[in-house]
Amino acid sequence: MPQDTSTSHKSSTNPAAQRRLRRHVKPMPSEGDDGLFTEAWFPVCMSDELKIGEILGKPFLDGRVVIYRDQSGTAHVQSSYCPHLGADLSKGSVAGDNIRCAFHGFEYAPGGHCVKTGIGANPPPAACLFSFTVVERYGLLWAYNGETPKWQLPDFTYPDDELHIIVKEYGVFPADPYVLCCNTPDYHHYRSVHGLDWTHPDPDPLQDFRWTDHGFRFDLDGTHWHGKEMKFTFGIDSVSLYFQQGTLDGKWYGYLAPFGVIGASQTMTYFVVVTHKGDGSPTALEAASTFADESMALEFAFVDQDIPVLDGIHFAQGALTEKDRSLSMYLDLVRRQPRVHPSADFIR
Ligand SMILES: [Fe+2]
Repeated sequence: MPQDTSTSHKSSTNPAAQRRLRRHVKPMPSEGDDGLFTEAWFPVCMSDELKIGEILGKPFLDGRVVIYRDQSGTAHVQSSYCPHLGADLSKGSVAGDNIRCAFHGFEYAPGGHCVKTGIGANPPPAACLFSFTVVERYGLLWAYNGETPKWQLPDFTYPDDELHIIVKEYGVFPADPYVLCCNTPDYHHYRSVHGLDWTHPDPDPLQDFRWTDHGFRFDLDGTHWHGKEMKFTFGIDSVSLYFQQGTLDGKWYGYLAPFGVIGASQTMTYFVVVTHKGDGSPTALEAASTFADESMALEFAFVDQDIPVLDGIHFAQGALTEKDRSLSMYLDLVRRQPRVHPSADFIR
């Protein structure tokens, strides 16, 4: 056999070359692709950040919004740029239920339409802000990217008025929120990274996961680190909310990690912990507060274990195993989520 043919043959069967040939990933839509974002509830700020009569300007969906609390205490999220000449309304003021531009005194009602100008002219019919559908719950303001919400924020076992709620801003994570959400259907990393263990077979994504068109829930009963008994329900809603509730050492608490999208690969992350107020007595409230602080510290420590692994990750659906079916099903769910941006013409 001629030498050059042999060399060529060896080259084509080089193991490294074969690995390169086999290497492939199943692509995911990124936030901001084609100017679109996942249709979902996204947190935009903490309730505590916004006093009555105050305005915040925040980045959101590759644009900018104003968040203001009117004189009755109701919060509104609207596009930030005055339709008159584009002034930033976060420099303006709250006038009753309206927001007023600092430049020429144009006033906009909660629905977004201009109700007066400060220069003696009638409001131009086209002068309108984009007004987001908003809900204030769990210590956060949430804006819906979409026209009509297709799902609602989840409930805990206990009604909201029986919950002691604490919220912290964790900061901006440099990836799309589905990457963070994938840690939950990838429950195997609870064992490999966090040291959790469970007393039953691995949850089957077809039998044991409770799927909806926008997310899932599943249960793990076993031991947390330090051997504490855990009975937890875990879940994800769309790409914007991690949900957890259950008992640790017999004590119930709930935990949310809401993910806000401020731009492509820019995820604003919050932590919410809720505990039960008990009988509402001062002693019970003190205990609920202490336990919430302890649980928040635990969940911060939990995430601190994830960060070294996630730092620098080139996340992709690559060579998955049969044990990764819940993860691949979640990734397919993300691919099926509607992607919209009705505020695009207003917030940029
Ligand atoms: Fe994790």
